[in-house]
Amino acid sequence: MAELDDMLRPFVDARRHSDAPDFISETWRSGSTLLEDWGERDTLGMVTGMFFAGSDTTMHTLSNAFVLLLTNDELIQRVRTGGDDTIERFAEEALRLHGAVQFRLRKVNHDTEIGGVHIGKDETVMNLHAAANRDPGQFAHPGSVVLDRQSPKRPQDHLAFSFGPRSCAGAALARAEVQETVRAVLEWFPDIALADTAEPIGPYTGYALRSYSRVETTFTAQHERGAGLAS
Ligand code: HEM
Repeated sequence: MAELDDMLRPFVDARRHSDAPDFISETWRSGSTLLEDWGERDTLGMVTGMFFAGSDTTMHTLSNAFVLLLTNDELIQRVRTGGDDTIERFAEEALRLHGAVQFRLRKVNHDTEIGGVHIGKDETVMNLHAAANRDPGQFAHPGSVVLDRQSPKRPQDHLAFSFGPRSCAGAALARAEVQETVRAVLEWFPDIALADTAEPIGPYTGYALRSYSRVETTFTAQHERGAGLAS
């Protein structure tokens, strides 16, 4: 964190009095209206939080999405040939199964009971999104990619981005990133495959965010195939 602070601090300091419409300048302006003593530490905290929220999550999810594709010949073929709708459905299934964020914490507003367990006001609960996303009561064949799921839940009804008033601010961008990356990689590298190495995929590691930490692939580069890059 200290290293990341040092990397981001020049960008944060440079925008302290800026009236530009970028995120850092806006954070300085809004923060000062919220807290009298809003300072560098506060803006830096928002920026490092946003940096992680917008980069690590997507990177881990993409890594997981490609493991799903590259370990299932039938699936990769369907996603390659199925058009936009299939790519969108695949992206939702990848988010549901391996959407990187495993859990979020919540503080309880009032006494309640969940699943026969009493939970008192102000207690902290750990909502396991990853478990809910594999609930067989909600998703038939929960451990598999099902591109045409309809009920009881549709593909996009997962909890990868959380739910309710506080949920992922970047969900639309994240969805677009997963869809566009899958589309581009399959288009640009038609022969992409898992590398034939002795190393197994993975391990599947992490605490708050989980992903296959190591995925080696082989593919023929565009220029070697003599084709121009897609736009
Ligand atoms: C696949 C990628 C992503 C996943 C799985 C993901 C997931 C999540 C989850 C589960 C939360 C927690 C909400 C809660 O507290 O219950 C969250 C919050 C947040 N995400 Fe994402 N996210 C992703 C990508 C992004 C991107 C690309 C951005 C922005 C560029 C972003 C910005 C944020 C922000 C700002 C919050 C905090 C919202 C708040 O505190 O109200 N996320 N995300």
